[in-house]
Amino acid sequence: RRFPSFSLVPDDPTLLFTVAGMVPFKPYFLGIKTPEVTRATTAQKCVRTNDIDNVGYTARHHTFFEMLGNFSFGDYFKKEIIPWAWEFLTERIGLDASRMYATIYLDDDEAHAIWKNSVGVSDDHIYRFGDDDNFWAAGPTGPCGPCSELLYDQGPAFGCDSPDCKPGCNCDRYLEIWNLVFMQFNRDEAGILTPLPKQNIDTGMGLERLSSVVQQVRGDFETDLFKPIIQEVENIAGVRYEVAGKQGLAMRVISDHMRAAAFMIADGILPANEGQGYVLRRLIRRAARYGRTIGITDPFLLKLRPVVTKIMVDPYVELREQAETIKQVMGMEETRFNRTLEQGSDLLEAELKGREVLSGDVAFTLYDTYGFPLELTREICADAGVTVDEAGFEAAMNEQRERARASSRQSSAKMGKNVYTELLDQKGETVFTGYICDADEGTVIGIVSDEQALDHAGEGQRVDVVLDKTPFYGEKGGQIGDTGTLSTERCHAVVLDTQYPTNGLIVHQCEIKKGTLCVGDRVLATVDADRRRAIRINHTATHLLHQALINVLGSHVRQAGSLVAPHFLRFDFNHFGPLTREQIMKVEKIVYEQILANKPVCVEERSFAEARSSGAKALFEEKYGDVVRVLTVPDYSSELCGGLHVSATGSIGLVKIVRDEGIGSGVRRINAIAGRDALKMFQMLTAMVADINNQLGGDLETLSSRVEDLLDDRKSLERKTQELTLKVALASLTEKIRKDAENVPGDKPVLVAGQFEGAGVDILRQVGDHIKQARPNAVALLGSAVDGKVVLVAMAGEKALACGAHAGNLVKEVSRIVDGSGGGKPQMAQAGGKDPSKLQEALDAAQAIFDAQIAGGSPKKS
Ligand code: SER
Repeated sequence: RRFPSFSLVPDDPTLLFTVAGMVPFKPYFLGIKTPEVTRATTAQKCVRTNDIDNVGYTARHHTFFEMLGNFSFGDYFKKEIIPWAWEFLTERIGLDASRMYATIYLDDDEAHAIWKNSVGVSDDHIYRFGDDDNFWAAGPTGPCGPCSELLYDQGPAFGCDSPDCKPGCNCDRYLEIWNLVFMQFNRDEAGILTPLPKQNIDTGMGLERLSSVVQQVRGDFETDLFKPIIQEVENIAGVRYEVAGKQGLAMRVISDHMRAAAFMIADGILPANEGQGYVLRRLIRRAARYGRTIGITDPFLLKLRPVVTKIMVDPYVELREQAETIKQVMGMEETRFNRTLEQGSDLLEAELKGREVLSGDVAFTLYDTYGFPLELTREICADAGVTVDEAGFEAAMNEQRERARASSRQSSAKMGKNVYTELLDQKGETVFTGYICDADEGTVIGIVSDEQALDHAGEGQRVDVVLDKTPFYGEKGGQIGDTGTLSTERCHAVVLDTQYPTNGLIVHQCEIKKGTLCVGDRVLATVDADRRRAIRINHTATHLLHQALINVLGSHVRQAGSLVAPHFLRFDFNHFGPLTREQIMKVEKIVYEQILANKPVCVEERSFAEARSSGAKALFEEKYGDVVRVLTVPDYSSELCGGLHVSATGSIGLVKIVRDEGIGSGVRRINAIAGRDALKMFQMLTAMVADINNQLGGDLETLSSRVEDLLDDRKSLERKTQELTLKVALASLTEKIRKDAENVPGDKPVLVAGQFEGAGVDILRQVGDHIKQARPNAVALLGSAVDGKVVLVAMAGEKALACGAHAGNLVKEVSRIVDGSGGGKPQMAQAGGKDPSKLQEALDAAQAIFDAQIAGGSPKKS
């Protein structure tokens, strides 16, 4: 069977990306799942970053590529695939057999015999290589096996001129076109190989490489897959492509990374600082950086999007469907990168001052965080007569590589058999009958507790129960699991949640309330129907909202996640910036019109391809079977969905958006309520508004202007209070200063300390200013208690300063008494404290400290 390409984001915890055509089929190779067919073929979009440093330097390495593959799950093996591959390349494609070479694994005499005897390849065209070249694995763990590759000799013009150049050389001459993997082992975490249940075949051929040979051009970048992109880069940069030199290198890197970035975004990846998003960010930034080396400084990657789309849109329609998102994300990321580059230049400039050598760490930070290629740093440094510690840079770079390798391994993740996959294998998929009923009979086929299969469970136990068929909906596609009861004549169990521990297997998470439940029992499974009705309402409401958001905000809106629960729904989608109140109201109105029209909600089963071509929305990360359910609200929306819905939109009643927030770059989340919950909220809000209105007195129409008036009044009252406090403070102060002046003769510095009830920092400062002006020989220490906290301000006049007074030190010491801290300059300082009861004590203590300051010493500690 020919399968369409699967997503770049694999359904596989051990891998960040789909790195090969075999990735989506891993469970079949491992024997975890039984495939529907034993022979499959795909043209699979792939992302691999292990060759990133070679991209652009060779004619054949990429980060994104299409892999043509054919797979046998325990069906044909070595003796079939070798002659078939040969026949395909020589007879169908028409490659010159005399230019072809086969490589095999060191001790694979069987493959050698097939190449030699069945195909007729001569000994001098068969090479044996070791683990690096002829043993293939998708990752550190998982299915793997020896392989055999077909190479094509492109001739000496592609070679490196070394006398040792032969198959296996790193240059472009002997091009690996097709890899045939004899997938027969599973490697575990300890590196141990165990034979797989069956012998399988996994082959992979690079479409780009095959194209370059067939089109007889000098490498992948001159094929029709890349040439138009490179031409567009030429136009933007205003320079011509030359194979050798920096133009050629930059254009190859840009066109490669651009394809990868566009496809990653189309599959739902957004720039981030880790995981897949980090790889995307690096690719966009690397491409932008290479753009600078050929003189492009403005954001330009988004200008390449149309040409990439034109080349690839058949069959990858996601490039067209996600055009808006690709544009937005690339534009934002490149703009952000330009800013970072500027900041990097500032950093570098600062680092260059007074230095002869720039440290490797700084050079690496510039490279890693700011995207400065080492050459750029080197050039700027050379201009300033500074050298770069390149060994240090390499060391930092190696550390980073190690970190990246470790994180991409995601070593704790496993993909293997467990009690649930075994149950699935033995008993088959659970039949779900919940589309047509809320209660049904089924037979217990498994009871699981702590990953162990049991044959019975008794009162008080919490166990997972598997039935052959059930009306319970397991959490999936955003809709949460059903709750309800399972009962037999001698047993009653409550279902707390329903889940899919593995695709196809529904488990009821139960607590046994009474009696004993045994494998083999017939049970009556009853879903909590009221809760389910509420879930249905929220689920259909989600679909209505999804379409309304597209209508109001634009076609770039795409679901990024959802949660459908009985009392609310949550919907995440790609969009840039918050929704305005008008937009929210528009969305709600569109949804409400659909509800008023009371349209039937139609469910149809169709083939995936048919559904997609009819324009039904599908989620990028979701894996769909061949036959899908399509949910349609006539003349409004159509979406692939396995969930539960109301039968007519009128049952929803009302949908109200209650919250809109950003949850990451370019993703928004709305929360909404529907049905009875929406009514409840409406009633609650109207009651609340009526209460407020009653308290304020007057008409509802003028309520908000009256609240505004109240707030204005409050502000002006606050201002008045402050003014009054200040006035009172100043009056009492003037009196105090007058008295003090009588006691202290002439210009001798004087401490004026006082408390001002309820005065904030601003007032204390104003008072301080007055004192300073009135007596330049004074130091003011002013304190107040506001909201249970102490505020202290100290200010010293000119003359006091000249005599050694220091406001900062003074405040620092006294603030300790009120359990606080602070300080500042000699002329002005501030502190806070937690103990208002000690404020007077603190002010009293100030005199001794002050005296010591002007006497040129420090006070005795008591
Ligand atoms: N998985 C093998 C590879 O990627 C063959 O498909 O080379």
